[in-house]
Amino acid sequence: MTMLAARAHAHANIALAKYWGKLDAGGNLPAVPSVSVTLDALTTTTEVRFDSNLCDDQLVLNDQPASEPATRRMVAMLDEIRERAGIRWRAAVRSSNNFPTAAGLASSASAFAALALAASRAAGLTLSESQLSDLARRSSASAARSLFGGFVQLPAGQPGSSFLAASRLAPASHWDVRLVVAVNSRKSKAIGSTEGMKHTAATSPYFDAWVELSRELAPRVAQAILARDLQALGQAAEQSALAMHACAMASDPALVYFEPATIACLRQVRALRESGIAAWATIDAGPHVKVLTTPEHLQEVMRAIANTEGVLNVIASGVGGDATVELVQS
Ligand code: DP6
Repeated sequence: MTMLAARAHAHANIALAKYWGKLDAGGNLPAVPSVSVTLDALTTTTEVRFDSNLCDDQLVLNDQPASEPATRRMVAMLDEIRERAGIRWRAAVRSSNNFPTAAGLASSASAFAALALAASRAAGLTLSESQLSDLARRSSASAARSLFGGFVQLPAGQPGSSFLAASRLAPASHWDVRLVVAVNSRKSKAIGSTEGMKHTAATSPYFDAWVELSRELAPRVAQAILARDLQALGQAAEQSALAMHACAMASDPALVYFEPATIACLRQVRALRESGIAAWATIDAGPHVKVLTTPEHLQEVMRAIANTEGVLNVIASGVGGDATVELVQS
């Protein structure tokens, strides 16, 4: 017998004020506030079907059976949902990205946002936006932000409080900015975000300074978004990304996500700026560079980034909307 099944769509997001580091208390609570923009071009679609005939939860990712660690991470969220819904059935889950996974862009943010939405709906739970965001955040903190479209903020966790949800700072219609993603490697990243940020917090002498700076940069990023001030946003976003990487690089042993093309892109972005083009860079836990620009300067930025040495591919994106869910006939 099959219960209702549900399918959700969630976009990836890019943090303009980065989350890097967790509270020691556990529960996957960020040590710093973060602010992101949701990307319409990068989408995960996930279908969840609870079924009384299944003995185990199953995960198919981009038409391939998922790895053991990926499946375990999914099961942890499904267990939480089953407990809240009072059901025991296992689930068949199919998830796919509309962007090349081989490019190393596959993001846990859109994946866990889509899973939280589809699985809770399929299990018959009615959760508020905040409850869904908190649920997604427990699996991957950046996923808390992917439930919302537009510009999104996630505060730092508070010791003693296990609930933490993201909220919408401004809808997608607030401001038409563009992101150009420079795909700089086909290898999947050596050290994932979860492990990388733990290592940084434990060994980087700059971690406390990073936390302090983040408390200042996140409100600056939020303010610049509300004021539609691209220069102020770009400057703060670039500083947040480079401070995060500087902090990670000072870890022992060093954590270096950059490839030669990463540096080449940073230089190209600076040269674009010097020639009057709106362009600011941000970098997550990998070698790819995301360039913030305007609709007017998009073509020029894409051309310059595509011609930068070592860049394999460029993807352009606008600001995406909320994650959505629909019931599926069983
Ligand atoms: C550099 O959300 O992937 O992309 O909570 O451990 O799953 P976990 O980490 P994750 O970290 C994202 C880090 C980042 C910056 C950001 O998205 O804010």
